[in-house]
Amino acid sequence: MHTVPIEALILGRAIKEHTRRVGTKEGFEATPQDSMAFKCYRDALETRKPAECKACAEQGLLHAASPTAKAKLRSLLDAPEEDEDAGASKLTLMRLTREEVQWKLVAVAGSLATATAAGIRRCPVGDEYSAFRIFQESGTPEQAWVTLPRWNVLALAEQPCALTIPELSGAEGIARLAGFKTVNDRQKLDGPGLLVLDRTVGEPDAECHYLLEIDGSLKVVPGTALQSNSNCCGRVLYVCRPPQKDEYRCWSNPEGQALQRVTENVWSMGRPFMWNGIDVGGRAAVVRLSDGTLWVHSPLKLDEGLKQALAKIGEVRHIVSPNFEHTSFASQWLKAYPKAKGYGCPGIKAKLPDAGYAIELSTSNEAPSEWKGEIEHTFLGYEHNPFTGKPFFNEVVFCYKPAGMFFATDFYWAYPSSGTQTATQFWKFGMDRIYGPFYRSFMIKDQGLYKAAMGRIFNWSWDKIFPCHGNPVMSSGKTVLKEHLQLRNAPPA
Ligand SMILES: [Fe+2]
Repeated sequence: MHTVPIEALILGRAIKEHTRRVGTKEGFEATPQDSMAFKCYRDALETRKPAECKACAEQGLLHAASPTAKAKLRSLLDAPEEDEDAGASKLTLMRLTREEVQWKLVAVAGSLATATAAGIRRCPVGDEYSAFRIFQESGTPEQAWVTLPRWNVLALAEQPCALTIPELSGAEGIARLAGFKTVNDRQKLDGPGLLVLDRTVGEPDAECHYLLEIDGSLKVVPGTALQSNSNCCGRVLYVCRPPQKDEYRCWSNPEGQALQRVTENVWSMGRPFMWNGIDVGGRAAVVRLSDGTLWVHSPLKLDEGLKQALAKIGEVRHIVSPNFEHTSFASQWLKAYPKAKGYGCPGIKAKLPDAGYAIELSTSNEAPSEWKGEIEHTFLGYEHNPFTGKPFFNEVVFCYKPAGMFFATDFYWAYPSSGTQTATQFWKFGMDRIYGPFYRSFMIKDQGLYKAAMGRIFNWSWDKIFPCHGNPVMSSGKTVLKEHLQLRNAPPA
């Protein structure tokens, strides 16, 4: 009989665990090395002792293969040493799953044998609100209820109650005690939280946390700092976060965040972008200009979660539709942000007179005064539909100079070769092998204009590409674009 080496068992479990954690792999790729590193990373986060955490991170670095996995593990080693929380255990903070908030409170009107029609009519209904589905009986605002999973920790609590935390990243004390020590760490806690406690305090326990009232404010402190029970409101059972919004999660946004930082002052809004049932991937961009206003490129659907995320980084003032095709959501944004101005490609006002565009971008590439000096554009006026002879996309491309980033909509795409559904792979094949050659052979009408446009684009100083379809290119962007356009020689001047 063969025996399986313990290392092989650990590796097998690590790979299974990595595979099971859909969407929460945090930069650890599906390789044996990264799977083992991911196991160490999870162990590091779960331990309550800083020395053990660092030992796990160091162990993980011995296995990690991908740069993102190594960076995640190094971030644990770079975390500042404990100061005022020295010796304290880590506060339990976790994200709930959708199943865990799926309970629905329904009033019971009595027994079928004894209930009356009037009693049934009097039976209260409730309003649910917040991502935690907090429940409140209509007309009784003084008391709200929230349904939580009946985990042992809650089932055994004698007097449980919950407190809402409107913005968890702003609750610095809680974030720090839960191990989110740096500003970057705390940004990961965007959104609301819920603190669950048992008002029956019991014997003080150094491993627990307590909610105290100090000078009229409530504060969570570790058990090591609990001096007496007199101002203690209860023992903290845990802090939790609502389920992530799955509507954001897609191959162009695997983390499912409303806004994802790409580089300094540039964020991505990756969303499913369906075409005949195929997710062809949509990616809008937000740039924060030097005056703090936000420049939105090719906007996608605006919702409450996205509005809240945007409000944290600046004020939306410039909404840009860069071609005739990416126009569906501009009017929604213009209504939501009345101080913002709509900008479109040349000809947009005649094509969509009711959409609310104030400014057409210049065919001579003169930047609007609002972002002159930071963003430049090039109008791709050479392109046409070979069947009708008319402009097709009529696209304008941009360069955000401070980040050295080039923005394209349908002129350039970068579909990944893995990590998407089969239908999207077929779409990639069609775009790369059929549409790409067709564009280059038949849609470039005026070679003089084409060369002038390419000359301007390649003369800009940039090395990153932000495409609306596909993943951002973070280095050697000009080489990538040259390959995409099959410009074998030096870029045209
Ligand atoms: Fe497109």
